[in-house]
Amino acid sequence: PLPVVRDTDALRRTVADWRAAGLTVGLVPTMGALHDGHLSLVRLALARADRVVASLFINPTQFGPREDFAAYPRAEAEDAAKLAATGCHLLYAPDAAGMYPAGFSTTVTVEGASRGLCGDRRPGHFQGVATVVAKLLLRAWPDVAVFGEKDYQQLQVIRRLARDLDIPVAIVGGPTVRESDGLALSSRNAYLTADERAIAPMVYRVLTEAVDALAPGHLAAPVLAEGVARLTAAGISEVEYLELRDAETLAPLEVRPADRPARLLVAARLGRTRLIDNVSVPAA
Ligand code: PAJ
Repeated sequence: PLPVVRDTDALRRTVADWRAAGLTVGLVPTMGALHDGHLSLVRLALARADRVVASLFINPTQFGPREDFAAYPRAEAEDAAKLAATGCHLLYAPDAAGMYPAGFSTTVTVEGASRGLCGDRRPGHFQGVATVVAKLLLRAWPDVAVFGEKDYQQLQVIRRLARDLDIPVAIVGGPTVRESDGLALSSRNAYLTADERAIAPMVYRVLTEAVDALAPGHLAAPVLAEGVARLTAAGISEVEYLELRDAETLAPLEVRPADRPARLLVAARLGRTRLIDNVSVPAA
């Protein structure tokens, strides 16, 4: 069975022993309810480092007051079995009291990449993410940390965070793992009803069709408006955003660039579930 540590000193001792033996260390932060998307990141970490730690912490500070913190799926025993089968070496599952003890006062704010998109829709979300990821990186002190492109804005926020705070870790992004119909795997897909599950693949289809329809050097707005209309017609309750952004800085773009990569990102509500997805928009 997979060793589980809850205590940060025990985590640090294990990592120090690995280091002393000349081994490199990878970290895969998660909130649990693991699926093949998470496990693909563990495999990527195993390819980049000799020892891999997965962390499981449902971080309360990144959930808004009306979001699903209480309902978020919890399945630690199943998660540990999946991680063990994937070849992960250690599960780090800290408790909330130790993460945010009385008197905790520090928040990490990443400007720029946190603006717009999910940053507007979920006030405080990326501060919660950046703060907990900074703590996880400083607790585990890995050589490599792996995050999914599924949460593309989060990945760019974390890249900026590590660079700006001189945290000596390589941030690696892993491609989005999808169902055969294109729906990006997500722990929140469990909330979808059967009818909603049938509609959900439209999110990815509209993204890929929009990239095909958007020629380099052309205005994005008409193509994006068409995409929003297609999603609404398919039964999506609300399109929070469908936007073209610079792939690295996430600066808004009015025109698909020909000389550098962009990213097309979407957030949509389907019943009580919030779906996000994104695709690359390559340079011509
Ligand atoms: P969580 O939603 O559990 O996701 C953990 C990691 O898995 C993230 O890096 C996320 O981008 C990645 N992931 C999720 N679905 C994926 C998919 N279909 N394909 C590939 N990767 C996928 O993201 C978080 O947790 C938290 O914000 C965290 C970074 C742990 C900080 O609390």
